[in-house]
Amino acid sequence: MQFNTLILGAGAAGMMCAAHAGPGALVIDHAKAPGEKIRISGGGRCNFTNMYAGPENFLSGNPHFCKSALSRYTQWDFIDLVAQHGIAYHEKTLGQLFCDGKSTQIVQMLRDEMARARAELWLQTTLADLSHDESHFTATLMRDGQRVDITARHLVVATGGKSIPKMGATGLAYDIAKQFGHSVTETRPALVPLTFSDQPFASLSGLSVPARASTPKASFDEAVLFTHRGLSGPAILQISSFWRDGQDITIDLDPRGALLAALRAQRQQAGRRNLSTELGHHLPARLVDYLAPTLRTSGNLADQSDAALTTLTDNLRHWTLRPTGSEGYRTAEVTLGGIDTDGLSSRSMMSQTVPNLYFIGEAVDVTGWLGGYNFQWAWSSGWAAGQAI
Ligand code: FDA
Repeated sequence: MQFNTLILGAGAAGMMCAAHAGPGALVIDHAKAPGEKIRISGGGRCNFTNMYAGPENFLSGNPHFCKSALSRYTQWDFIDLVAQHGIAYHEKTLGQLFCDGKSTQIVQMLRDEMARARAELWLQTTLADLSHDESHFTATLMRDGQRVDITARHLVVATGGKSIPKMGATGLAYDIAKQFGHSVTETRPALVPLTFSDQPFASLSGLSVPARASTPKASFDEAVLFTHRGLSGPAILQISSFWRDGQDITIDLDPRGALLAALRAQRQQAGRRNLSTELGHHLPARLVDYLAPTLRTSGNLADQSDAALTTLTDNLRHWTLRPTGSEGYRTAEVTLGGIDTDGLSSRSMMSQTVPNLYFIGEAVDVTGWLGGYNFQWAWSSGWAAGQAI
């Protein structure tokens, strides 16, 4: 069978590409349904983009690579598409747009767009063999237990990264990249909870606090969640993309920097108040109890010198911890690293060395922050390849 374009992977990027790749596109996926990560994303409501998305929200070996696609198919283009399909949405926080209803509305929208473009979708289909000559790609597919040989002028690899193997993530994109002589940068789990081997926060499990989490390279002001095995919550997921094994992270439990002044004022007005009790007005009491032995919070406010209060608040602002690892690909939202952007055109996502071979979405070494940025990269890169075909 002949197609103009074979797209491997019916996820966010692959479906977007199929909707724009013109006639004769076939999308294959080994899963039972397309867009499974879209379905489970954003707690079932899909954080489909971010109003403030820009190149600065992405990590990549080449920070300039994502600029072209992001500027030619922007968050506003995707928001328009969502609106055209009558999907209601809202901003949750920090520019993050979520469906009012279910994330399956986004999957259906992409299916409708693919149908409009007359793209074919073959599910539960795997790639058994792939080769290439001057003008065509030849693929052997396994569909319903049958071998199907197809040829296509264009091949788009959109099989994503390694995160959540249980949902069907494989390293196929990296294998194909290597088969065609592309390099792949080091990959690691990102947007992932951090763990501590001695489970120091088990007693605080479930507690969430507003904080600033930092690594030497980045800081994020969002919630930190204590878990049985370590730390999670948006601030930790964000810094996990910057954290490296053996590094410390710092938690600032007073990100607005208002605590010292507040304690000093209270010392004037209510000097007899117990220091721990007062701290409990600014931080969860469970956390104050947990920190009490290290922070030496005994005594009344009136007993505390300026120096003591300064030391106390400094310690709360620089709580230094060394994670022993992360939860890994089992729960990571994305894969950091991937197909080296040096080998790709930033305009079309096409290989610089193999004409008509494209890599899009998470498989490429472009990783967004938490907050709708990764889907925006899938839409923008999928669109860019679709336009070029
Ligand atoms: P994606 O993974 O979506 O699609 C790849 C497709 O290829 C899949 O359908 C898979 O079945 C198929 N495939 C893989 N290997 C194959 C093989 N060997 N043969 C055939 N098919 C194969 N991002 C965001 O911006 N906002 C959010 O709210 C969230 N939330 C979120 C929650 C969770 C739990 C996760 C795991 C991830 C997110 N993300 C997110 C990240 C987002 O889901 C991710 O960045 C995009 O889905 C990437 O799109 P791709 O199309 O590149 O890969």
